[in-house]
Amino acid sequence: MSEHRVTVTVNGRAVARTVAAQRLLRDFLRDELGLTGTKGACEDGMCGSCSVRLDGSVVKSCLLLAVEADGQAVTTIEGLAPDGGLHPVQQALIDNFGFQCGFCTPGFAMTMASLVAEPGAADLDAEAAREALVGNICRCTGYVRIVAALLDAARRVRDGEGRGQAASGPAPASGRAPGRADGR
Ligand code: FES
Ligand code: FES
Repeated sequence: MSEHRVTVTVNGRAVARTVAAQRLLRDFLRDELGLTGTKGACEDGMCGSCSVRLDGSVVKSCLLLAVEADGQAVTTIEGLAPDGGLHPVQQALIDNFGFQCGFCTPGFAMTMASLVAEPGAADLDAEAAREALVGNICRCTGYVRIVAALLDAARRVRDGEGRGQAASGPAPASGRAPGRADGR
């Protein structure tokens, strides 16, 4: 079994580890770094529960090897907002009751944070929001409240709520947001 040294910036903090060549990025984050907000369910890129941001793009970490992240920046749900704060999408998920068991919520939040940072996000309608979230699956909510949360978060970002947290850059290291919208 071959091993490789990787250096990854995770939630703003440089991390260096020796990993097996076949180690998934998701397992690296969860098992090596203890960032268990990133979930795993389908193992084949369908459910989105393992979504993280890799150098500015949302990716499914079950489809990437840890070695593929070498030299790049990863943001997980734990780093989405600064310590003690909530990203506008997390607050909107709470305020709109956009989760039940919460298993899918970190993945949705990562996708939603990327969406609301795009120009014109506040112009999304419900149909477009549903389409934009097609890569994330929820088995509890029926999606209505998640879609409402996305539209609400886009409005909040447009109106300047949580300014700085909706930007694409990661929050400082080790931030764990309180409440169930942090994925715990
Ligand atoms: S576990 Fe990665 S997409 Fe489902
Ligand atoms: S809230 Fe349970 S899977 Fe989405």
